[in-house]
Amino acid sequence: MKTLSLIWAAACWIAAHASARYASQSVQCCAALSSNPVLHDKVYYPNSTAYAQRIADYWSVNAALKPWCMILPLTANETSQVVQVITRNQCPFGIRSGGHAVFAGSSSTDEGVTIDLGPKDSSMARHTTRIPNLPPSARAALGASVYEALEPHGVAVTGGRSAQVGVGGFLLGGGNSLFAHSYGLACSNVVNFEVVLADGSIVNANAKENSDLWLGLRGGSGNLGLATRFDMRTIEYADPSNPLIWGGGLFWPRNATDAVVDVLVRFTDRIPDDPASGSYCLFAWIPNYPFPENMAISCALDNIRNEVAPAAYDGYFAIDGAMISTLSSRTLLNRTIEGDATDGLQNVWVTGSYSNDARVVHFALEKWQTVVQQIKDEIGETDDEGISATLQLHPLTKPIATNGDGPNLLGLEKHVADGSAGIQTLLVLTAKKPENWPALERFGQQFQAEVDAYAIELGANWGWKYSNYADASENPFATYGEETVQKLRQASQKYDPRGVFQNLRNTGFKIP
Ligand SMILES: Cc1cc2nc3c(=O)[nH]c(=O)nc-3n(C[C@H](O)[C@H](O)[C@H](O)COP(=O)(O)OP(=O)(O)OC[C@H]3O[C@@H](n4cnc5c(N)ncnc54)[C@H](O)[C@@H]3O)c2cc1C
Ligand SMILES: *[C@@H]1O[C@H](CO)[C@@H](O)[C@H](O)[C@H]1NC(C)=O
Ligand SMILES: *[C@@H]1O[C@H](CO)[C@@H](O)[C@H](O)[C@H]1NC(C)=O
Ligand SMILES: *[C@@H]1O[C@H](CO)[C@@H](O)[C@H](O)[C@H]1NC(C)=O
Ligand SMILES: *[C@@H]1O[C@H](CO)[C@@H](O)[C@H](O)[C@H]1NC(C)=O
Repeated sequence: MKTLSLIWAAACWIAAHASARYASQSVQCCAALSSNPVLHDKVYYPNSTAYAQRIADYWSVNAALKPWCMILPLTANETSQVVQVITRNQCPFGIRSGGHAVFAGSSSTDEGVTIDLGPKDSSMARHTTRIPNLPPSARAALGASVYEALEPHGVAVTGGRSAQVGVGGFLLGGGNSLFAHSYGLACSNVVNFEVVLADGSIVNANAKENSDLWLGLRGGSGNLGLATRFDMRTIEYADPSNPLIWGGGLFWPRNATDAVVDVLVRFTDRIPDDPASGSYCLFAWIPNYPFPENMAISCALDNIRNEVAPAAYDGYFAIDGAMISTLSSRTLLNRTIEGDATDGLQNVWVTGSYSNDARVVHFALEKWQTVVQQIKDEIGETDDEGISATLQLHPLTKPIATNGDGPNLLGLEKHVADGSAGIQTLLVLTAKKPENWPALERFGQQFQAEVDAYAIELGANWGWKYSNYADASENPFATYGEETVQKLRQASQKYDPRGVFQNLRNTGFKIP
């Protein structure tokens, strides 16, 4: 045993101190991190169980690329030291927080070091009453820990509709929440970001200080720096002493399709009349789903003022044949746990956005049926226990685009300038077996191209693709518009003049 550890010690010494000529870049980068006394025990190598646990904790299995090593800094200062080591050694890197982005290369890299800001028991977690400081952290943080921690204070924040979703990617990419029609996107509710820049400096970005960086982080994801803290505007519950919302899902068999589409389109147009009442619908096919043809339609109805069955939902209540209802007054945590989805699967997500036009929705639903048929024909219904195809339909409204504490980078406002609404599609395809992923990717891309082409014909295609839903084949920042791209480029030149986050960063979308 003794001899063995001596040999290891020697290997470490060589890796850290011998000339880089003898060490591959992978050894050099990881050794350079390990040789920093503060970072030493926060570097995880592929031979450790801690590394295996972090890999297993990616929500989407195909996103879990295996880096040379991972580094898990716990404070902004440690994050700054990581950035300095990485730039000094020109190490390619990836950034991860909650690990919920779904495509390979979204938040991990197999050619470089993954900077993991989401260790489960992050000591960065701190909460105050009025403006909570969120760690960029732990899976479930925005849902479980933050919602729960804020309840006794009678306030909430604009977090995910699923309790699982991570903080960093959600807030930096936009963030659609149950509160969106009242308070805008979650990124527009971040009043201050603490950021580690490419040169290792730690700065604040808010309306007064580095306001161009503040704007750039409201949708620009990991293009400008590593966010290490988020200060958010809080939202008071209707009754702060009884912090509940009213919500849940209604489920119908597929014969309700026409009625649901009709209601959703009308509902979407009227959201500004009652912005506390939100809704979105999903059409799911899952083998062995306890519904006719293994298909169900479900619509989420959520009133953030805890108003029971508000009139805005009358159209939904009038649809015949609902099989299940989970509607009730309950805590945000209870509600968002119900929004959790199965992890541990291969995922393909593709997205689009359109004028709120029933013809586009019906066309997308036909194409979803085509995808179901393709899966049955090419993969089979029973060969893969994780197979599923779900089409989500989300209202996009002027309040989502423009409410909040100041502007964001997503460029939605031009689509809703006249007050008209849109519908965002998200097709989610899953499988258990990795060999089925390429077929799903092909079906997904074909689906998206066909729906976009149809909508273009009708003059109904917004072309806007939300970065937190987009596939690697999509180019979300370009779809936000030229103005967004210019702002991102300017902020990048100012805060990252050597282009570290453009050239060395391997994860997520780059500035076009
Ligand atoms: C079950 C489920 C439910 C969801 N529900 C919603 C929803 O209700 N509304 C919605 O808008 N979206 C939703 N999403 C999408 C979600 O917003 C994205 O997956 C988001 O990226 C997840 O954040 P994360 O921290 O887990 O991301 P990660 O996968 O860790 O990272 C995503 C991207 O952000 C970058 N990044 C992460 N943290 C930082 C940081 N601190 N500094 C710089 N860059 C960083 C990463 O490099 C990566 O490119 C959901 C996703 C899932 C899987
Ligand atoms: C794991 O790998 C690293 C880097 O190669 C090495 O320094 C370390 O000693 C190894 N640990 C074990 C337990 O094998
Ligand atoms: C990190 O902490 C060290 C030690 O306290 C300090 O010297 C250094 O300036 C800090 N770095 C930053 C970027 O604040
Ligand atoms: C769907 O079918 C069920 C039973 O077959 C019926 O009760 C229900 O009313 C139908 N719904 C619609 C919207 O046609
Ligand atoms: C939350 O859910 C749990 C179990 O799922 C239930 O026992 C509890 O009553 C719920 N609380 C509220 C306030 O909805």
